[in-house]
Amino acid sequence: MEELRAKNREEEIRQNDYIKMTAEKVRRIADLRGHALKACVVTFGCQMNARDSEKLKGILAESGFLMTEEEQDADLVICNTCTVRENADQHVYGRLGRLTGLKKKKPDLIVGLCGCMMQEDHVVRKIRKSYPVVDLIFGTHNLYTFPELLYRRLTEGKRVVELWDGTDMIVENLPVRRKYSFKSGVNIMFGCDNFCSYCIVPYVRGRERSRNPADILDEIGRLAGDGVKEIMLLGQNVNSYGKKLDGAITFSELLTKVCGVPGIERVRFMTSHPKDLSDDLIRVIAENEKICRHIHLPVQSGSSRILKNMNRHYTREEYLGLVDRIREAVPDISLTTDIIVGFPGETEEDFLDTMSLVEKVGFDSAFTFIYSRRTGTPAARMEDQIPDDVVHSRFDRLLDLVKQTGEERSSRFTGQMKDVLVEDVNREPGYVSGRISENITVHLPGDESDIGKIIPVRLESCRGFYYFGTRQS
Ligand code: 5AD
Ligand code: SF4
Repeated sequence: MEELRAKNREEEIRQNDYIKMTAEKVRRIADLRGHALKACVVTFGCQMNARDSEKLKGILAESGFLMTEEEQDADLVICNTCTVRENADQHVYGRLGRLTGLKKKKPDLIVGLCGCMMQEDHVVRKIRKSYPVVDLIFGTHNLYTFPELLYRRLTEGKRVVELWDGTDMIVENLPVRRKYSFKSGVNIMFGCDNFCSYCIVPYVRGRERSRNPADILDEIGRLAGDGVKEIMLLGQNVNSYGKKLDGAITFSELLTKVCGVPGIERVRFMTSHPKDLSDDLIRVIAENEKICRHIHLPVQSGSSRILKNMNRHYTREEYLGLVDRIREAVPDISLTTDIIVGFPGETEEDFLDTMSLVEKVGFDSAFTFIYSRRTGTPAARMEDQIPDDVVHSRFDRLLDLVKQTGEERSSRFTGQMKDVLVEDVNREPGYVSGRISENITVHLPGDESDIGKIIPVRLESCRGFYYFGTRQS
């Protein structure tokens, strides 16, 4: 363990050295071209990818690039890809088409690809063959070697491809450029061991590995020192945090420690697997006001038969029982979920079980997905894939129900006082937007100077999934 931590530290130093060398090189190229070099990072997918992109941006900024949101202004574009559903892949190929056009006008443009899609052999083969626009490819396991790979691309002048099947390294102390000054994601674990039968994640993100708690707390201490008030602990399955660490720490213990870091006022976490959410965690949430009153608890289906075929390790009844225990301990908590429609073999009866579960639970909101067949997963090989028209009609019915039950549930705070952490100025002039602990958005009168403040607000009226509020101080 200690040996591995020392190895991680050594690697941090090595990669930080590459950043310095790249900065020198970038300065020279900028002098030659007569303008500063700009970089654009395009992110697809989940919160883990969003956090990874903050790392890519931090490394690029430290390497001397100015950051831009507009790819047509950029000298370097990195796409951080997702492969959880097929349409995510299609977006990336579409983007590469556009970048090919851009490179015709700007031959010096550098295009890089990283993230989950790059961990699939068939994708990389296709890109190598059919997308000469791509100059740099790396994957999820070696993201921390980006400084080195970028340096190589700039000095060698030819395509650099480096992909690993896995790693035991966790190298986190590299520059990060956070989207928000007052809140931040923090990775507590990587990978997933659950192998839900539809899901590609365990194949592209590798085996589950928990980060050392001391490293996590150090990072959060530094973030707090930097003005961060809200932390989102990130992992594919945070409830199993620590199971493989020698020092035996549970997720509830980690949460309690994170809440104890001076300056941290709110703690969120994502994602919870229902099979691993312990009564101990429910107790810790109930007892600690800093832990936000929101659990994202993907159910995926309301049919025990489908849940079994999905390899989820809980039944409909167990899920409903868990919801009851959570609500008993924290009655007003927000519950959100993910649901897949059209898993192989899903009958009308199975689907009606999902509909009735949604009605019973009354989620605050739900992300609904059409089942996507991912090559290499057990579900892709199952017989009885459901025809598109059946899936689409079920999807529309579910969406209507989710909207209706979500709106009913979300309005429960009307007239109450709640603390809002202000995140952004609103498109509507004179208004800002933020979130309450329950993760519901509130719009209130204010200006830019409110961003990052926690403000007491009276929730006046609920419009669907958000509120309008008035300030109380
Ligand atoms: N098809 C559709 N949805 C999927 N998800 C994961 N894999 C698939 C797939 N093959 C959904 C699950 C998961 C969320 C992140 O994405 O609902 O919780
Ligand atoms: Fe995929 Fe299941 Fe792991 Fe979530 S828990 S990432 S759905 S395998």
